[in-house]
Amino acid sequence: MKNIVILISGTGSNMAAVVKSARREGWLEKFDARVAAVISNKADAAGLRFAQEQGIDTAVVDHKAYGARDEFDAAMAAAIDRYEPALVVLAGFMRILTPGFVRHYEGRLVNIHPSLLPAFAGLHTHQRALDAGCRFAGATVHRVTADLDHGPILAQAVVPVLPGDSADTLAARVLTQEHRIYPETIARLLANRA
Ligand code: GRF
Repeated sequence: MKNIVILISGTGSNMAAVVKSARREGWLEKFDARVAAVISNKADAAGLRFAQEQGIDTAVVDHKAYGARDEFDAAMAAAIDRYEPALVVLAGFMRILTPGFVRHYEGRLVNIHPSLLPAFAGLHTHQRALDAGCRFAGATVHRVTADLDHGPILAQAVVPVLPGDSADTLAARVLTQEHRIYPETIARLLANRA
C-alpha cells in the first residue's frame, strides 16, 4: 500500500481536492494508494474537520510547542513516519522545513506554490504579480529541496491576469487550477510517470 500523508496549515482546499480525486478516480484500485493521514501544525486548521469526516486519520503537531525549528521538524517527522509514506504532500503548509527534514523525504516530498516559479517564491505572490504588471499568473507543483519554493518543477498551470483583478480575485482564479494540477500530478507520481 502506498500511503500519502498531507500536511496543511489552514483551509486545506488542495488537500480536499486530492482526497476527492483519490476517491473519484479509484486510486486504491489503480495505484494501491490512499490518503492515510492529514497532519496540521495548527489545531484550528479547517481542513482537519473535512479529513475527519472522510474517515482519514488526523494529527496536530503544534509548532508553538517546540523551541527550535529542528525539534518541531523531528516531531512532525515522527508523526508522518508512522505511516511509512510513499509521498508527503505539502498543501498550504506554512512552515519552512529544515534541510534535514527535506533530506529525510527526498524523492517523496512535493509542494504546490501559487505562482509560476521561479517567479515569486515566498509570500504574497498574487499581490506581487499584480504589482509587477504580470499579464499571466499561475501555480506550480514542484519537488521540495532545501531551497525554499524551488526544486524540480512537476507541473504548472497558467491563468490570465484580468483588468480590475485584486489579489483575492487572482488568488481564486489560480486556486481553481491548483485543485486540478495537484491531484493530476500526484496521480502521475503514483503511476511512476512523473
Ligand atoms: C494555496 O494557494 C497554496 O498554493 C498555498 O496556500 C494556499 C493554500 O490553500 N501554498 P488551501 O489550504 O489548500 O486551501
